[in-house]
Amino acid sequence: MTALSVLSVASEAFPLIKTGGLADVVGSLPFALAEENVTVRTLLPGYPKVMAALRQGRPVLDLGELFGRPARILAGNAKGLSLLVLDAPDLFDRPGNPYTSPTGTDWPDNGLRFGALSRAAAEIATGALEEFKPDVVHCHDWQAGLVPAYLHYAKRAGPPTVMTIHNIAFQGQMAPELLPHLGLPIESYTVEGVEYFGRIGFLKAAVRLSDRITTVSPTYAREIRSSEFGMGLEGLIRARGQDVSGVLNGIDIGLWDPANDPAIAAPFDSVTLYRRRPNKSALLRRFGLDPDSERLLLGVVSRLTWQKGIDLIVEALPTILGLDCNLVVLGTGDAALEEALKAAAARHPDRIAVEFTYDEGLAHQLQAGVDALLIPSRFEPCGLTQLCALRYGAVPVAARVGGLADTIIDTNEMARMAGAGTGVLFSPVTKDTFDQALVRTRDLYQQPKVWRRMQSNAMRTDVSWAAPAGAYAALYRDLVEPAVAAQSA
Ligand code: ADP
Ligand code: GLC
Repeated sequence: MTALSVLSVASEAFPLIKTGGLADVVGSLPFALAEENVTVRTLLPGYPKVMAALRQGRPVLDLGELFGRPARILAGNAKGLSLLVLDAPDLFDRPGNPYTSPTGTDWPDNGLRFGALSRAAAEIATGALEEFKPDVVHCHDWQAGLVPAYLHYAKRAGPPTVMTIHNIAFQGQMAPELLPHLGLPIESYTVEGVEYFGRIGFLKAAVRLSDRITTVSPTYAREIRSSEFGMGLEGLIRARGQDVSGVLNGIDIGLWDPANDPAIAAPFDSVTLYRRRPNKSALLRRFGLDPDSERLLLGVVSRLTWQKGIDLIVEALPTILGLDCNLVVLGTGDAALEEALKAAAARHPDRIAVEFTYDEGLAHQLQAGVDALLIPSRFEPCGLTQLCALRYGAVPVAARVGGLADTIIDTNEMARMAGAGTGVLFSPVTKDTFDQALVRTRDLYQQPKVWRRMQSNAMRTDVSWAAPAGAYAALYRDLVEPAVAAQSA
């Protein structure tokens, strides 16, 4: 295997800065790619948390003024990741999360901020750094969407680009007046370039101009060809034909290892499933419920949004209570959904408990302690929580969409008899079908042998990065050396 080097460009990376699964992917894929002889350097914005984590950051490139703001690139390591950091304090030295101010509104200059990230990536890609000339640029989501545009309109040739779409609902559409401030030429403002319905479309630009497009599951790659899931980009996605493919996410199975997880009360594996019980008791206690309860314990760990179908969970609360289940929820998100869940917990303090915080340790405890994890997403590009649930023997009860459909084996009659199921899937995503899935889950739970089999099957599912990293490495090699890849195929 020839050695390859990749510049990964993203707006978040676990454990440095995270708002969702994107960070998990960007933070863990480089380690798996190392096994494929692919070296990754990750370009991140210099948010305060990233600057603080960067050990012995060395200035490697002075960009002078980037869009009128002082900017430079620092190189260094943090948490095992090899980083390049765009140190531009006017753009990134701010409180709050990567995209919003502490009051929760988008920063008004997000177009410039992530345009700057993309511009810096294009500089590095075209050889600005003596020490690092990437063979491929891997862009993640709209925040890196202008990289292919800068490369396309640059005078110098650059390496091939891959755009991975983690969520097509977030497209980065900006005012057309921004074009000169982004340093893009006027001829880029066409349907062949960055223009999108009278605005600048960051993700649209990448869908049009990157060499390959991937998304995070094969089913989502098919779904985004339709108007139901494509969020307006379906026509452009279809036009790219075979250039669009799906590569499932993995999770870091060292970090998510129930046999060796310092966050949980009692370690367990697929043959010592009985050791999950102390974890269930500890979780119930932590949430203020009866630690000895034998009720089927349902859990949620999620952003509390429409995408995730949290409103369906609110609607299903009478069913959940009627089926004699308990429910624990860990998440943050829409105020109205938080209110509805809080009110339900106040009405049923012995059955329903909620925590509106972001807590990695508690997410581990929840996965180790609940009997089943609810994921009624309306769309789910991949989803990582079901992968964690499988690994921890928490039976996923999920909508049959996107990566959920690709990673969970529904325990239908035949799967039950064959001992092959790992969870419960339902479709279409409605209140009625979700209710029916909850009834089916309760019925399966009441058959302890069947349930244990589902759990141990789940725990034996390969949710690691090994196969997906192989697929990404093959994709990179195919771009860099198509002739060689074709011969060895
Ligand atoms: P998305 O990125 O769409 O939010 P994913 O399932 O891909 O969904 O990834 C979500 C990630 O964030 C998972 O690692 C999950 O465990 C984590 N997560 C979500 N909400 C919380 C929370 N309140 N506390 C801790 N971890 C959370
Ligand atoms: C997005 C998607 C989620 C996916 C994650 C990582 O946040 O909503 O389904 O798992 O990206 O790819």
